[in-house]
Amino acid sequence: MENKQKKFYITTPIYYVNDVPHIGHAYTTVICDTIANFNKWLGNKVNFLTGTDEHGQKVEKSALKANMDPQTFTDNVSKSFKKLASKLEINNTDFIRTTEDRHIKSVKHLWNILVNKGDIYIDKYSGWYSIRDEAFYSNDEVIEDKSGKKLAPNGSEVEWLEEPSYFFKLSSWQDKLLKFYEKNPDFISPKSRYNEVLSFVNGGLEDLSISRTTFNWGIQVPDNDDHVIYVWLDALTNYISALDYPNKDSKNWKSFWPADIHVVGKDILRFHAVYWPAFLMAAGLEVPRKIYAHGWWTVDGKKMSKSTGNVISPEVIIDKYGLDQFKYFLLREVRFGQDGDFSEEALVKRVNSDLSNDYGNLAQRVLTFIYKNNECLIPNKGSYTLEDKELLKDMGVSKDNIINYMQNYQITNALEELWTIIKKSNAYIDEQAPWTLKKIDLNRMNTVLFILANIIKNISLIATNFIPNGANKILDQLAIPQNKRKYINFDEELIPGSKFNKPEGVFPRLEIKE
Ligand code: MSP
Repeated sequence: MENKQKKFYITTPIYYVNDVPHIGHAYTTVICDTIANFNKWLGNKVNFLTGTDEHGQKVEKSALKANMDPQTFTDNVSKSFKKLASKLEINNTDFIRTTEDRHIKSVKHLWNILVNKGDIYIDKYSGWYSIRDEAFYSNDEVIEDKSGKKLAPNGSEVEWLEEPSYFFKLSSWQDKLLKFYEKNPDFISPKSRYNEVLSFVNGGLEDLSISRTTFNWGIQVPDNDDHVIYVWLDALTNYISALDYPNKDSKNWKSFWPADIHVVGKDILRFHAVYWPAFLMAAGLEVPRKIYAHGWWTVDGKKMSKSTGNVISPEVIIDKYGLDQFKYFLLREVRFGQDGDFSEEALVKRVNSDLSNDYGNLAQRVLTFIYKNNECLIPNKGSYTLEDKELLKDMGVSKDNIINYMQNYQITNALEELWTIIKKSNAYIDEQAPWTLKKIDLNRMNTVLFILANIIKNISLIATNFIPNGANKILDQLAIPQNKRKYINFDEELIPGSKFNKPEGVFPRLEIKE
């Protein structure tokens, strides 16, 4: 049985420990968690990896500023990312830190393979470097601001570097990458990002500097202590070091590589869609199936930054408005792949309209009605009318559509579809008017309530993947056992006459809090 289960491997980027976690980090993690949940719900065996990126000049600088040695500093900040994962109630399988031995061994091994394959040579790097991005920029890319400061295209400051460096022969992978993109048009999503990467690679690839000598905080190059390995080569390897690479006999490796999807922000697409596949191809390893680049969140229209003082803490928002509410807003407000703007007003509005008015109200009014009028027992059903059959059919179609959307990572479409059936169910109650049937036809009233209770169960089974707490509370009210909440339980009808629990409102209306 075990072997037949489809395996699914999903990763977040590993987070730099130079900063406290904010809603941008929470976003990537929540997206991955939802996709991971959904796959588990379908019955797949899921490996969901997250972690922290702890080396490099940026982290070293932050540690110095905090008057700490880098290891103590990263130990502290890494904890705050673990704390965020637990506050978000994330179901990750593993949490990798790049300062762990298992990772360091993997990176050194990969380095040696690339050397043995002839893809690494030593030379001297002279060019621009941004510590904020931990990225090299060519002369053509660098711009000058009014004060004469040199900037990368995204506005981060660059400095001139001249130092001995090892290089990866990226240029020799250009044609192979282009062929690979052509053969795998779904490798990068959304499509606009695919086109962007294609035109970058078509424009010509230069060899990539992959070691630094002017600071120490990193993994040393095997056989040359003067160099530390470029933090991106180090960091990208986390996706395989967590699967026990280079031990290809390991169960983890055999089950989960290549990854099904790396979810990343649009700012780090190039590293994942160009450098990473080139490293892997050069090492003779398979390339991940997909890189999905999501957009960026601004806050009240402005870029989040410490200097503007508008960095939003996910913890604060969760404490004010609730976990499901925060997750739902992130997942639904912005089409996956697009940029979005975060504001508490927008969150409150979205939650009140979708969670309180639509979903919460559907569950609350139906379950309370059954509770009052049928002694808290699932009603008996009679024969179905055309309208009943249509609603049940629509539920099935929506479920199939949602599965299809989620398998194609169209999270927003999946939620829209779920809300289509929620709205149809609310309309069905109004049309069938069980409160009127109560006076004229009790059998018909029971049938309508039976259908609605089943639809609410099915909607909630799906919703456990997106807003687990609230959806599970509704399933608790329907007395659905914990082990009956998966996709395979979808068609199991509630049993007439069985008892359910006292209904309570699950998504109260919100107000903006100070
Ligand atoms: N350490 C690298 C990733 C290495 S992966 C091998 C890194 N870390 S990061 O902490 O700076 O960013 C991690 C993720 O958070 C990225 O996907 C980034 O896009 C995302 N976000 C950071 N700020 C964001 C917003 N304001 N909005 C949405 N996501 C953003 O890059």
